[in-house]
Amino acid sequence: MKKLVYLSCLAAFVLAGCKQSTPTTVYSKSQKDAILDNIQTRRAVRKYKDKQVSKEQIDTIMKCAIFAPSALNKQPWEIRVVRKPEILQEINNRFLKYAEGKDMKGSAAHYKEPGFSVFHGAPTLVVIARDKSNDYSMMDCGSAMQNILLSAHALGLGTCPIGSLVPVFNLPENKDVLELLNIPKDYAVAISLALGYADEQPTAPQRYPDRVKIIE
Ligand SMILES: Cc1cc2nc3c(=O)[nH]c(=O)nc-3n(C[C@H](O)[C@H](O)[C@H](O)COP(=O)(O)O)c2cc1C
Repeated sequence: MKKLVYLSCLAAFVLAGCKQSTPTTVYSKSQKDAILDNIQTRRAVRKYKDKQVSKEQIDTIMKCAIFAPSALNKQPWEIRVVRKPEILQEINNRFLKYAEGKDMKGSAAHYKEPGFSVFHGAPTLVVIARDKSNDYSMMDCGSAMQNILLSAHALGLGTCPIGSLVPVFNLPENKDVLELLNIPKDYAVAISLALGYADEQPTAPQRYPDRVKIIE
């Protein structure tokens, strides 16, 4: 009998070790409201304070990033948090070189203005690269991006996806920048994100609720 109890305890212990279970979370009304509010009040921020984000904040945000879902749990991303002013300057310079003479769209269209920063002068730029051999990697990197946007917003920080930098990072002539960021050869940049303390409170651009239809 003693042996049986011992063996079942051992089996339970081994099983518990194999599978990390997440307890079902029950949120209070105010917690639910806060979570839903966080999703709806996040905005693309295009003006930042001259104040760096702390390492602790970065750790929290990156933990949220890697908890994004991914197809087959492959986690086909390589994420770099760039805070070195010289590297940020160089990335902006590469963008300016790329943009020269081109008809750029959105905020990038202002590239000829003095002091222009493609990542809106944010003190931190997050670069998310995707495994090119994984068909779902763009989607998975998008999920990681959204976790970054929302967790940063929950911490009181501002963010902005910077798609304008994607073709710049992936140009063969800018391979040295990817090498500097230690991005593996079989990866390409999927998206980059400005991160910092917001110095503006943008209003939400128009949404199109009619693009959602319930079929029943
Ligand atoms: C994939 C992607 C790329 C984007 N690229 C840029 C960009 O290069 N520069 C910029 O200022 N905003 C960029 N944005 C921000 C969008 O313009 C913004 O999310 C959209 O206008 C909706 O505004 P909201 O985020 O405040 O709701 C990008 C957003 C996404 C999702």
